[in-house]
Amino acid sequence: PARPIPVLAGPDHTLAFAADPYRFIGRECAARHTDVAQGRLLLAPTLFLTGAPAAQLFYDKERFVRAGAAPEPLRATLFGKGAVQTLDGSAHLRRKAFFLEATAPARVAALVRQAEVTWLTMASHWRSQPQLVLYTSAQEWLTRSVCAWAGVPLPEHEVQLRTGQLAALFDSAASGLGAHLRARRARRQAETWLAGLVQEIRDGRRRVAGRTLLQAAAELTDERGEPLPARIAAVELLNVLRPTVAVSVFVVFAAHALHHHPGWAPTLAAGGDLGADAFVQEVRRFYPFFPAIAARVRRDFVWEGYHFPQGRRVLLDLYGTNHDGRLWPHPGEFRPERFMGRIPGLFELVPQGGGRADDQHRCPGEGVTLALMKLALRLLVQRSRYRLPPQNLAIDMRRLPALPRDRFVIADFQPV
Ligand code: HEM
Repeated sequence: PARPIPVLAGPDHTLAFAADPYRFIGRECAARHTDVAQGRLLLAPTLFLTGAPAAQLFYDKERFVRAGAAPEPLRATLFGKGAVQTLDGSAHLRRKAFFLEATAPARVAALVRQAEVTWLTMASHWRSQPQLVLYTSAQEWLTRSVCAWAGVPLPEHEVQLRTGQLAALFDSAASGLGAHLRARRARRQAETWLAGLVQEIRDGRRRVAGRTLLQAAAELTDERGEPLPARIAAVELLNVLRPTVAVSVFVVFAAHALHHHPGWAPTLAAGGDLGADAFVQEVRRFYPFFPAIAARVRRDFVWEGYHFPQGRRVLLDLYGTNHDGRLWPHPGEFRPERFMGRIPGLFELVPQGGGRADDQHRCPGEGVTLALMKLALRLLVQRSRYRLPPQNLAIDMRRLPALPRDRFVIADFQPV
């Protein structure tokens, strides 16, 4: 006998969710002392899940699928149509292998080496500017770095264009109608660009040195061993380029955290030790980035006495799980110490999803993200002098992704 799932008041919750996308699920569930609540998004019944046990449930492949889970506006901007995010079963595993190869430790190390060289080159230009916006400067840094590493040619006159397109995919996707339409256009243009490169490699019109990511994308095949359509290969190439540029959001938050907790500077200058790891983990836990992720019930089941009907959309609350006081004492305080001597469980620290990256949908890019965050912090602490001019450092929690209102302006930058 199932017990009733707590139901949110009112006919539809789309506006309330959009008004506070990071805190809505956690707040509504906490008010009802539940980890599962039922509401409606765009009038469709939706189950909201929060906390580590619910995260573990969400990653059970017997109970949930991703096909048909992501709404079209996100597939048309952030993910791309036909992308790994929307696959299940063996098709998912086959496609995921491309990302596991791209993010293997040796490949991450190569990306970090490239990114350091690129930073030092750019820093000599930053010196001549009275001030710069860290968010956009970091986007250009990461675009140049990831394209060089991936073997994607990026002529100097295209740097601004491609940086803008890659950034629009995550920065404009859910920031109002005008921005959303820009993100759709950016996706069409970026896919056309990369599909063209894939086609040139397949036709033998372009030679690449070594096994680059671009080469690996050109070689992607489907379940029958046939080459994937060049457009899908481009979608998956973008699934590495775009989120690497999106690390700019965490670079800004890392700099924001450093500004508020300057005592951590000596630890961060040292780079990869335990303290720097703890700091970047706490940045990923504390600051908002992805609010939630979606799946659909594969077939009817009962969990904790609650009945989950086949086909029902569920949203797993990532931000709220990272701020769950049952897992994280004083969740609203920035305390890297909480990660000293604690390896978080697979479903506890979920800014980039939970479970395993190799055979579940968890993000394969956590190693890339952590390494680039630590690199940026080390370069900011050790190789740079700058000051913060007066500005609004408050974080706009209504925006997706949330960001400091002025995007973190720095002045009088000096490389040292
Ligand atoms: C999936 C967050 C960086 C590649 C995901 C998911 C989240 C996420 C929440 C969904 C997990 C799920 O559906 O279960 C982030 C954040 C990042 C980041 C906040 C910081 C910028 C990266 C990087 C890469 C990457 C650097 C590539 C190098 C992917 C891919 C998937 C994914 C390919 C789809 C995995 C799948 O469906 O199997 N990420 N990610 N991400 N991420 Fe990341």
